[in-house]
Amino acid sequence: MRIQSSHHHADRGLDAYFSPPEAVLSLLQIEAQHLPKCIWEPAAGDGAIVRPLQEAGFTVIASDIADYGLAGCRAGVDYLTAGPIPGVQGIVTNPPYKLAARFAEKALGQTFYVALLLRTNFLESTARLKLFRQHEPARIWISSRRLPMMHRHGWAGPRAPSNTCFAWFIWDKRSSEKRVIDWFDWKLMASSSKGPPPRGDRQTARCVEAGPEGIRARILSLPASTVAS
Ligand SMILES: C[S@@+](CC[C@H](N)C(=O)[O-])C[C@H]1O[C@@H](n2cnc3c(N)ncnc32)[C@H](O)[C@@H]1O
Repeated sequence: MRIQSSHHHADRGLDAYFSPPEAVLSLLQIEAQHLPKCIWEPAAGDGAIVRPLQEAGFTVIASDIADYGLAGCRAGVDYLTAGPIPGVQGIVTNPPYKLAARFAEKALGQTFYVALLLRTNFLESTARLKLFRQHEPARIWISSRRLPMMHRHGWAGPRAPSNTCFAWFIWDKRSSEKRVIDWFDWKLMASSSKGPPPRGDRQTARCVEAGPEGIRARILSLPASTVAS
């Protein structure tokens, strides 16, 4: 499903406002010891999360319900009805906010590691209490400095600070940590960036063996029922 107007995506409620690279570069540092090798970005948008992860050496599978022209991204995949992809070890995304809890539940049923960039008020609401009680986040990384504003696809205007506070919500079934709250300053992260963090834990072996082409083949063969029209 290729839709040309990016305004249209936002207006249609797809929440097509894309993450600033600073958020992803920060994640690479604060979660350097935990990010698994093979990651699925299931609401990839124009690749704001996909690209920095790939540049840092991760194998990233990208899909989205809509098409923003991101090379290698499988468009037309509604994550909420998509089947699992063998070899995927973690989900990293900034989901559409109104579907964020459903994305979290779905991801937690599929993988051991989930990182979602969300407004900090995701912590509130009685509706989400059940999710937090059933699945306690391991770590919540609050952006102490407001992130640059999220913009629509193709935005070339000025970059102003957001008026909203964001955090990385991390669920990690391998970790004994529960509800650890910490802070990061993306400006310090960006200035101290030394390139890709070290990786290569034993749990990455299956994904590495499958290779990016193998994984892509699997996502392209998702059942038609998982593909939105
Ligand atoms: C807030 S944007 C974030 C995009 C990207 N993750 C980023 O960080 O820049 C939300 C994205 O979710 C996609 N989306 C909305 N509903 C979806 C669904 N049910 N399944 C998959 N993607 C969806 C939109 O098309 C949009 O690209």
